[in-house]
Amino acid sequence: MEKVLVLHGPNLNLLGEREPEIYGALTLEEIDRRIAEHAGRLGVTTRSVQSNVEGELVREIQDARTWADGILINAAGYSHTSVAVRDALAAVPVPAVAVHLSNPAAREHFRHVDVVAGACRGVVAGFGWRSYVLALEALTDADQ
Ligand code: DQA
Repeated sequence: MEKVLVLHGPNLNLLGEREPEIYGALTLEEIDRRIAEHAGRLGVTTRSVQSNVEGELVREIQDARTWADGILINAAGYSHTSVAVRDALAAVPVPAVAVHLSNPAAREHFRHVDVVAGACRGVVAGFGWRSYVLALEALTDADQ
């Protein structure tokens, strides 16, 4: 595995100021920097994209089939609602891991359904920014 798309969904552009008691104090830029640093150690390059728009997430997933070997996706609020994002992941033969900073299973009931995770190889949730790094390790390891 050489190239990984890191896809961040809605409201994750506000990390750092958005409910820091739940999502931590790091900005998305800093999280992306840490992911890229860790990826470098694993011999992987990452391309990070954030969008608040469901259709843009779908387009990025579709485009990933032309260049990416794996996908990390935190679909954020769309995790619980978006059949379109799930279908895009199911449509491309690129393995994906679903990521959450918080642990949705320990939160409100409406977060307990994760329609996107069902199209992923696995889920890493609840470890803050480290969820991304753990997911990257799992994704690249699962490739072996
Ligand atoms: C989230 C969890 C979701 O329930 C929420 O809507 C988010 C972020 C997380 O990373 O913990 O926006 O995906």
